[in-house]
Formats: sequence, C-alpha cells, structure tokens
Amino acid sequence: MSDSPPPDPTPGGVPTPHRRRPRYPGRNPRRFEDKYKERDPQRFQETIEKVLASGKTPAGTHRPILVPEILDLLSPSPGEVAVDCTLGYGGHAEAILHRLQPGGRLVALDTDPLELAKTEARLRAAGWTAASFTAVKSNYAGLPKVLSNLGLESAHVILADLGLSSMQIDDPQRGFSVKFEGPLDMRMDPTRGPTAAGLLQRLDAPALARLLVENADEPQAHRLAPALAGRSFATTAALSEAIRLALAALHVASITEVQLTVRRVFQALRIAVNDEFSALETLLRHLPGCLAPGGRVAVLTFHSGEDRRVKKAFEAGRQAGLYAAIAEEVIRPSAEEQRANPRSSPAKLRWAKRTAP
Ligand SMILES: C[S@@+](CC[C@H](N)C(=O)[O-])C[C@H]1O[C@@H](n2cnc3c(N)ncnc32)[C@H](O)[C@@H]1O
Repeated sequence: MSDSPPPDPTPGGVPTPHRRRPRYPGRNPRRFEDKYKERDPQRFQETIEKVLASGKTPAGTHRPILVPEILDLLSPSPGEVAVDCTLGYGGHAEAILHRLQPGGRLVALDTDPLELAKTEARLRAAGWTAASFTAVKSNYAGLPKVLSNLGLESAHVILADLGLSSMQIDDPQRGFSVKFEGPLDMRMDPTRGPTAAGLLQRLDAPALARLLVENADEPQAHRLAPALAGRSFATTAALSEAIRLALAALHVASITEVQLTVRRVFQALRIAVNDEFSALETLLRHLPGCLAPGGRVAVLTFHSGEDRRVKKAFEAGRQAGLYAAIAEEVIRPSAEEQRANPRSSPAKLRWAKRTAP
C-alpha cells in the first residue's frame, strides 16, 4: 500500500492533486501532525490495529476505560435518561447509548468545543439522531442548568470520566504535553480564561508554591516556585527546561525525580488553568439533585486530589441519606487492561446509588 495520503475529493467530486507523504525520519511518524493515518481511523483500520496492539493510543483518538465495569454498575436500560458529563471521544457514550435503546436518551457534555464538535459529528455519522443523543458544550459544573434547559428533571444514569482525553494530551498545539513542544496553553476550552503561560506570569512565588502543593503534592514546591513564578514561558519545552535547570541548581540529580517533578508542575498548572477542583466539587454537590430516585452515578478519577473529593462527597451523601449505597472500595482496571492501555493505570472508579422514595 502506498504511504501517500490518498487525494481528498473536492465537493464537486474532482480529486485534488496528489500530495507527498509528510517527511519524517524512520519507518513510522513520531510527530502528531504527521500521523495522518492514525487520525483517520475510518480509512486506515490496519494502522489503528497495529498501534493498539503495541499498547499505544492512536493519535486523535481515546480509549475508554473500565467500560464493562461501568456498564455493569450504571446498568443503563431501555427508555432511561443518561448523562455523560465528559464526552471526550465518545467511547463510554456510545456504549451507554446502545444500552438505552429503544427509547432512551443520552445527554453528553464537554467543555472542549474543538473535540466536542468532532465527536458529535462522528456519533451522528454512526446514526445517533437528536431523538437519542444531545451534545452540549458545557462545563459539568452547570449540569442542573443543562438538564433544565432540555426540560429534564433528572437522569437515571450519570457518568464523569475526569481529566484530559488522549486527543488533548497528544496534540502539541493544546500545550498539555510534557513530551512535545507546543504553546504553553493547557486550556480545555481554548475560548476562555488565561493560558498556563498567562497564569505563571501573574503568580508570585508564594501563590505558585501553594498551587503546586494543593494541586500536585509537589515536595519541591517552595524551593522551585521562586525560579518559575512571574516569568514568561512561551512553550511547554521552555517551561520543562526551566524546571530542570532549577532542580539542577537545587542539587536534585535523580532523573526519575526530575521527570516526576516536571509532570507534577504540568498537572498542577493544568488543574489551576481549568479550575478543575472547583468544577468537580460543584458537580459532586449537584449530583444527588440531578439523579432520579434509584439513579446511579460513576466517577473515574486519575489522581488523589480527585479521588479524595469523590470519596468524601459520596460518604457525606450516604450519611445525609441522599445515597442508598456507595462504593466501599475503588475499582481499578485489571492488569490486562493496564497492559493493553497503559493510560488506564492510574484510574480509580467510584459509584453511588441515589436513594429510592
Ligand atoms: C478522560 S476524557 C473523557 C473520555 C471519554 N469518556 C471517552 O470515552 O472518550 C475527559 C473529557 O472531559 C472533558 N472535561 C474535563 N473537565 C470538564 C468539565 N469541567 N466539564 C466538562 N467537560 C470536562 C475534557 O475536555 C475531556 O474531553
């Protein structure tokens, strides 16, 4: 098979001129922009299968985590209303949609207008019409308003799969990645609020240190913050380099420790830029009011700051008589799932069931 991208037909059906394959060293492209086959799974299924078999996530896609477990816990049934608070690539959404038929409806939220539009188009092309599937660009903190705008009182099933999608992480232009150079942005909704670069420039050292502790338990926070706060970093690579230099000056030599610190600083900034803890706390407060009697909710978290909040809110809800039952233990991806999809490794699933009248 030729390695050149096939010509795209124009709307009039006339093929555009032949384009040369992007140039990259080695057999396989490394840069996100060059992975045109992975980003077009409909046309290059064979490539997708090879990438999946190697334990990687094809560029521009996302692999849903703990799907059978989530379906089992949430038990979406024909005719019910379900909410996916975090549509992403739509993997969980589509699995739930199938279980809701006939007669059920899924409302899916995402704060990212770029990926939301693509996923909605993909699900529409797969045959999900407005009768069964509604996509809404919204922060999940606004779930009660989304439901009331749609004339819905509550949902039987609610899912939230927190954090970032692989599409967001892997696209250097979104500025989330420690691995690839891109603008230091990190906004899930690029139409709103300051970027990570803007935030860093605005913060003084004590405020940055607090943020690094609160959002990522960074042990070097107080020593590192003076080297980063108030400075202007245009790219992810410039920030990584500044962290490495600051750690070298602090005599932190372990490569693992340096890599972990870079990751923790990125995580802390991302959480702050997107106001993630405040959105999660608001959602957790609203959940009992958004669930129908006997309704089920599941939340997938990816770090201790998220899991702590979910655990606390579910326990408080049970004590207040709002939840009839909650997860006693977290559910983790099996060793097999973690091997097949290493990005699933940190995931923890908790669930709760609304009291019935
Ligand atoms: C881990 S991905 C979800 C993947 C999805 N379950 C799937 O199967 O493809 C998380 C998604 O949640 C979205 N998100 C994160 N915080 C959000 C918030 N506060 N409100 C709405 N969406 C949010 C992100 O933009 C991202 O698309």
